[in-house]
Amino acid sequence: MKIVIAITGASGVRYGVRLLEVLSNNKNIELHLVVTETAKKILKSEENLGLASLKKLVTRETPLNLIHLGNMLKVAKAGAIVMPACPAFYIKPMGINDLVDFIAGRVLDILNINHNLYRRYCKK
Ligand SMILES: Cc1cc2nc3c(=O)[nH]c(=O)nc-3n(C[C@H](O)[C@H](O)[C@H](O)COP(=O)(O)O)c2cc1C
Repeated sequence: MKIVIAITGASGVRYGVRLLEVLSNNKNIELHLVVTETAKKILKSEENLGLASLKKLVTRETPLNLIHLGNMLKVAKAGAIVMPACPAFYIKPMGINDLVDFIAGRVLDILNINHNLYRRYCKK
């Protein structure tokens, strides 16, 4: 499977970084990375990091305005899956890493890639 991770300049670049970390260990995946210039700057400032056609779009912004919603509708109509980065709290996160892993795990779920990044919700 070929996966392209594209990271733009938004708070939340660490979601992309986490996906890279997890996917780079998977030998069945040909991984490509696209990083904008602004994303490189934010990687430095927020994460202290230097650094196919993927049709899953993880959005960080909130609240979503009409332009966001309109653009999301357009890409959804073109076949993309839009995934707002909304971490769940039923996982009882111990810190930011758990929240990041939840979102990264949801992206992997959509890609049908097995992972152990978060505990699934099940009623018992
Ligand atoms: C520290 C930092 C955080 C940012 N976070 C966001 C964000 O969460 N969402 C957003 O839409 N723009 C955010 N921006 C603004 C974008 O970086 C800016 O719109 C930029 O032009 C995007 O360029 P790109 O799409 O080429 O990466 C942020 C900028 C900085 C410096």
